[in-house]
Amino acid sequence: MTELFFDSYPRFYETSLTRRLPNRLHQRWRKIIVQNKAALEGARVLDLACHDGRWSFAALKAGAAYVEGVEGRQELVDSANENFESYGISKDAYRFSQGDVVDFLTTETNRKFDVILNLGFFYHTLKHLEIIERMAQFGAHTFIFDTAVDLSKGNIISIELEAVSDPRNAIDHLDASRKMVPVGRISRSALALMLNSVGYDCIELDWHTDVDDFSECRTYENRKRGTFIATRR
Ligand SMILES: C[S@@+](CC[C@H](N)C(=O)[O-])C[C@H]1O[C@@H](n2cnc3c(N)ncnc32)[C@H](O)[C@@H]1O
Repeated sequence: MTELFFDSYPRFYETSLTRRLPNRLHQRWRKIIVQNKAALEGARVLDLACHDGRWSFAALKAGAAYVEGVEGRQELVDSANENFESYGISKDAYRFSQGDVVDFLTTETNRKFDVILNLGFFYHTLKHLEIIERMAQFGAHTFIFDTAVDLSKGNIISIELEAVSDPRNAIDHLDASRKMVPVGRISRSALALMLNSVGYDCIELDWHTDVDDFSECRTYENRKRGTFIATRR
């Protein structure tokens, strides 16, 4: 039986407000972390919409020097801090703050990050271009995106409303007590186009070459979701 990375850190199974899906987390870990180990080693990492700190944690374990997460929901920031403390991570190695991703990217412009994680978030926003343009200001050599996509061949963002009450979803960044907010799913070519426009080349990691167990990962299997690596030119 394969040893799953998060089996050694089971708090993340409990503090996640997404469904408990061990194989999905494990396969994502292989794509997001293991295949990017060289980029993460020694890096200062920014984790956008960091949830309970799971990917910041995995990045540190893969050799990152420092991780910083921003997350819209305070209870998840609390969980991230508790998880790191519980697993004995030095306080110098991380920081989590509550806030809107775009606000963070707009105000923390004097910061330097080598790798920016944009995981499970890019279909919970309608500010795709603004986020990519602002991510590019931090001087990072690598962005890692993991996102649901629109399957259109053209440069498309398909817009829908989603419920703020689900902790996996968008926050109401206007603080206007809205129940539903507009979000958009970007197509593969639109994602590449926007990244190219700020000087990054984009490749998609192929889940079909090495994932042998797609249980809990059907959206990756049918390409409705993908993992993308953008590298500064
Ligand atoms: C589907 S979860 C993904 C969590 C994690 N990054 C992952 O890939 O497993 C989306 C996360 O984005 C957060 N979020 C949504 N909109 C946000 C915003 N505008 N600013 C900060 N966090 C946001 C949610 O609270 C939730 O934790």
